Amino acid sequence: MPLVYFQTFGCQMNVADSDELRRKLISHGFSETDSTTNADLIVVNTCSVRQNAENKALARITEFARIKKTQCQLWVTGCMAQRLGDTLKKTIPGISLVIGAKEIDNLDTIINDHLIAGTFFNSESHSNASSISDFVTVMRGCNNYCAYCIVPYVRGDERSIPSKDIEDSIKSRISDGVKEITLLGQNVNSYNDNGTDFSDLLVRVASIDGLKRLRFTTSHPKDCSEKLIRTVAEIPLCCHHFHLPVQAGSDRVLSLMNRKYTPSDYMNRIDMIRKYLPDADITTDILVGFPTETDKEFEQTLSLVKNVRYTTAFMFAYSMREGTVASRMTDDIPKTEKLHRLNRLIETQTSITKEIYDSMIGKTIEVMINGRQEKREQFWMGQDNGCKRVLIPCENVQSGMIFKCTVIRSSGMTLIGEIQE
Ligand code: SAH
Ligand code: SF4
Ligand code: F3S
Repeated sequence: MPLVYFQTFGCQMNVADSDELRRKLISHGFSETDSTTNADLIVVNTCSVRQNAENKALARITEFARIKKTQCQLWVTGCMAQRLGDTLKKTIPGISLVIGAKEIDNLDTIINDHLIAGTFFNSESHSNASSISDFVTVMRGCNNYCAYCIVPYVRGDERSIPSKDIEDSIKSRISDGVKEITLLGQNVNSYNDNGTDFSDLLVRVASIDGLKRLRFTTSHPKDCSEKLIRTVAEIPLCCHHFHLPVQAGSDRVLSLMNRKYTPSDYMNRIDMIRKYLPDADITTDILVGFPTETDKEFEQTLSLVKNVRYTTAFMFAYSMREGTVASRMTDDIPKTEKLHRLNRLIETQTSITKEIYDSMIGKTIEVMINGRQEKREQFWMGQDNGCKRVLIPCENVQSGMIFKCTVIRSSGMTLIGEIQE
């Protein structure tokens, strides 16, 4: 049986794309291996969002090209594959195939054309689901063209996947043992399948038998509607978590970024979420050091962060991406200044995260178990109904079970829970 090794960089979209390719390869007779030494095919699924992300992927690809068996194929897929295309093959000769992110819709043809001859099994078994939680892509691409962002260029135009296909795919995951689904898109709020909007989709998906938890990401603040927030509040299966990337706290910077909302529009969304779902976890993405961002404007980002009190945040220093609108502006903030701002932001957010986790002590939460902790065997890992990580010391439980727990401790970024009788 041929063996495939996967390495995935980037966002959950890429994780979902790797899963799709994995499923297809398995249906062609492949098995997955966790070692490169015996692999017949190595797949590196890449990200382009920041220069760092590309550097990491390039380093791995170069290493794989050097160590792999001669007959082993090396496929480079995803966003950097789309951006750099076949020049990648010229730079790193060990690469057998480059599959850009836009080609994801044609995976079947590509696999048929390139699979190692004689390895076809066409085995019927698709099921290797070991996880109880899975991602399902509901839209591909992006039309928003935020000034700093490469995604619309490498992923192409926004397109919604028909709701029927989404439901079918979720049903098939559930029959493989999945209990929790996260719906994915760069901006799920602009989902539209002939009039079925994202709230309608949530209602349809929530009625699927066997599904225990429903999540989604990402919500672009400009399209996060009251209808959506109300829908989340009304569907018991929907977790109380909104990932609402703010990027910056200054009106001028947001407008330069082409985000299409002001800080006060954003705060109105937050207030609306808190009104319908007072216990919701709100998380975000923030980018510091965008061209021309002043110290004062950065302070506005800090004060927004303090006002919102995010449960957690992904925080980044601006990285120039060739071809974007921002790449035509002078990247005028020195690297040391960007890092200085980033560190101050991380410090501020880390202490808010800790306060929020600590404030949970004594409270009752609902935890879904999603696996054993590798390092400490007596602990099970899980997640509350928002996005908080929970460890539970216990025996005789299984992934996918949901328990009411009392929070007995907090590490500042993880809760320790005790199952209530
Ligand atoms: N679709 C999502 C974001 C996807 S990219 C949204 O609109 O919110 C994930 C995050 O990477 C972005 O939210 C942004 O904070 C960050 N990012 C994107 N381009 C970047 C760049 N050029 N430099 C630094 N961070 C960037
Ligand atoms: Fe990038 Fe903006 Fe699209 Fe998000 S919405 S993927 S940040 S262009
Ligand atoms: Fe995701 Fe990176 Fe592509 S963030 S969409 S994998 S550029």
